[in-house]
Formats: sequence, C-alpha cells, structure tokens
Amino acid sequence: MKGLVYHGPGKRSWDEVPDPTIEAPTDIVVRIDTSTICGTDLHILKGDVPACRPGTILGHEATATVVEKGSAVTTLEIGDRVLVSCITSCGRCRFCKEARYGQCIGGGGWIFGHLIDGLQAEYARVPFADTSVYKIPAQLDDEEVLFLSDILPTAYEVGVLNGRVEPADTVAIVGAGPIGLAAVLTAGLYTPAHIVAIDFDDGRLARAREFGADVTINNRDGRALAEVMELTGGLGADVAIEAVGLPETFELCTELVRPGGRIANVGVHGHSATLHLETLWIKDVTITTGLVDTRTIPQLLSLIEGGRLDPTVLATHHFSMDQAMEAYEVFGNAAKSHALKVVLEGTGVANKRNTKVEVTASA
Ligand SMILES: NC(=O)c1ccc[n+]([C@@H]2O[C@H](COP(=O)([O-])OP(=O)(O)OC[C@H]3O[C@@H](n4cnc5c(N)ncnc54)[C@H](O)[C@@H]3O)[C@@H](O)[C@H]2O)c1
Ligand SMILES: [Zn+2]
Ligand SMILES: [Zn+2]
Repeated sequence: MKGLVYHGPGKRSWDEVPDPTIEAPTDIVVRIDTSTICGTDLHILKGDVPACRPGTILGHEATATVVEKGSAVTTLEIGDRVLVSCITSCGRCRFCKEARYGQCIGGGGWIFGHLIDGLQAEYARVPFADTSVYKIPAQLDDEEVLFLSDILPTAYEVGVLNGRVEPADTVAIVGAGPIGLAAVLTAGLYTPAHIVAIDFDDGRLARAREFGADVTINNRDGRALAEVMELTGGLGADVAIEAVGLPETFELCTELVRPGGRIANVGVHGHSATLHLETLWIKDVTITTGLVDTRTIPQLLSLIEGGRLDPTVLATHHFSMDQAMEAYEVFGNAAKSHALKVVLEGTGVANKRNTKVEVTASA
C-alpha cells in the first residue's frame, strides 16, 4: 500500500510501504476513507517532535472501514464504518478509567503518526480497537464526522469545557486557525454574550464571524486588550482561550481575563512563557492546560446528528489520498491558499453516505 512517510525534518514522501497487519488480538486493520492534515503534522515536519522517528507514516485523523479484526475484538465487524480518534485508549489503565485517554499509560494516548504508523495512508493498523474507534451513524457522511478525530474535541474539551464557558460569558479566543474556529463553533453551544476572535489574519477573522464570533480583532496593532476592556466595561473576558501556542498569545490571555476568570490554554508551546504572578496573584484566575482526551466524541456526534453542529464548514480543500504531497503544500501555505482543513479522500466508496461496503482484506 502507499502512505505519507516522514523522513526526518523537512522531508516527507508518498511511498510504497508494507501493508499493515494484525499484531495484537485487540487490533483491527482499516481502509482509510478520509483523512486530514493537522498543524501538529507540520510541527513534526519542522523537527519539533523528536519522538516521531523517520520512517513513520504521518496522520492521526481518519474515518475508515474495518477490513480485518483481531480475535479479541468484540464490538466491531468487517465492513463497519468507524471514526478513528487521534487518541488511542487501552481502556484499562488508571487514566483511561478516568476518561483521561490522552494520558493513557497502557500503550495508548497520542500514538498515531507519532509513535506508530499513522492514518494518511491507504490502510492502517488500529490498536485497542474496541475502545478507540466510534461507529459512524449510518445517516452521516464521513466528512461530517472527520474533524471529530481531533480538532473539534480539542477545542471543546481543552478550550470550552476547561474554560467553563457559561451562558452570557464573554469568551475571547486568541488564534482563529482550525482550533480557534472550532472553539468559536463549540463555545456557541453555551450561548455566550460575546465571542471575540483575535488573530492577525483578516481572512480567518472573517470565517470566525461566519462561525459565530460577534467581535473580531486584528491584533497586528496591539489593540486587542483595549478593545476587550472596552467591550466588557473594563472588567475583562470571563474566559480566554489560547489557540496559538506562543508566549505572547498566552500572556495576552492572562491580561484579557477578568478577576475570577478562566484561561484555557490549548496551544502547543515550544518555548517558555512568562507567568506574571506579580499581577495575577490577586485576580482569582484559573489557568488550565491539556492534551485532548476525545472523551466528548459521543456528545459531539449527537450534536451533529441533531443538526446542531456542522463541522464541514472547516473543510476548504479536497484531494484524493494519493495527492497527499500536494495537500501538504496547500495546508502548509494557509496564508496564500486560505486553507483551514484539507480532506484527503481514499479510493474506497465508503466516504459516501450510508454504505456498508464489501471490502477485501488489505493483506
Ligand atoms: N492541546 C491539544 O491537545 C492540541 C491538539 C491539537 C492542536 N493543538 C495546538 O493548538 C494550536 C492551534 O492549532 P491550529 O491548527 O488552529 O493552528 P494554526 O497555526 O492554523 O492557527 C494559529 C492561528 O494563530 C494566528 N496567530 C499567530 N500568531 C498570532 C498572534 N501573535 N496573535 C494572534 N493570532 C496569532 C495565526 O494567524 C493562525 O490563524 C497549535 O499550537 C496546535 O499545535 C493543541
Ligand atoms: Zn492534531
Ligand atoms: Zn489506558
């Protein structure tokens, strides 16, 4: 089969690789029907994630069809359409039992396209299948659920839920990339009084407005703090969600927030940021951090089924899976291409709605 292989910093190619096989009785092998590229894949390609060894197939988001199953898999059948979570759960360790799947110490956690071969490929091996994939409701298209692998639960769990967004809150979201925009979509579920999106990119701010932000601020001129204070009568935002991953955007969040407010950090940080305790100690603020657990996938699926949430608005470009190299160019050049999420479509037919398809095993 073919897959998008990481060959060390700056190097990737679409290679012929061995077909995945069942290695443990709890594994399944899937045919990938749709996949997508994450900002984290670009971090890996920059060399920021040394644990990802050259030779690894990238990608941690997919919808797929089961083509083979191990002898211990009890809840899935060949031909089932499944959403593969970016987080694998062993289902048995202390953290999995607390639904903190991201912290799994039983062999799961974020492993796809990181510690094991990922999902930007024709086929993939999925460990701990019973506890790590979700059956796709028959009436939903693959593209309607694809972004539940990672960015929707990330923005929702690590941003909106950690930030304890409540009705009538003013929620300031710093960063209007796919994660920040997914935070705009899911913060809206709580009917805040204001959703403020802050970025440098006017195109992305325009999307934030389409998705439910009522105030957008281009912070190139450093106006964000003053504008949020003006909007809130000098108090500050109830919740500040950091969705960039830079010291200055984290520090901006700590300035934007009101006394008693919550700062929810979502961004992946490569450098230390300064925590200004000399001004914060008196403000009763809560700061949270986190890796996504994807424990809210069932809830988000219900919202999509009920017509309350439509993640397809995040898809800006479509490619066939074998155009993955080109898709990386487009995604990596978002300033020019205006890409948010690119959808990679497998050659199978299961990316069409409601089909329990006949499939042949990959091996
Ligand atoms: N915690 C988790 O589990 C988790 C999971 C996935 C992604 N992430 C992280 O979330 C962050 C956002 O992801 P994304 O895919 O949306 O990234 P992205 O790079 O597409 O978006 C970041 C946005 O921030 C804007 N920006 C950059 N500098 C800015 C500044 N100084 N002020 C205001 N805006 C600025 C950019 O214009 C861009 O629109 C990344 O750090 C990513 O690694 C975290
Ligand atoms: Zn990701
Ligand atoms: Zn576990």
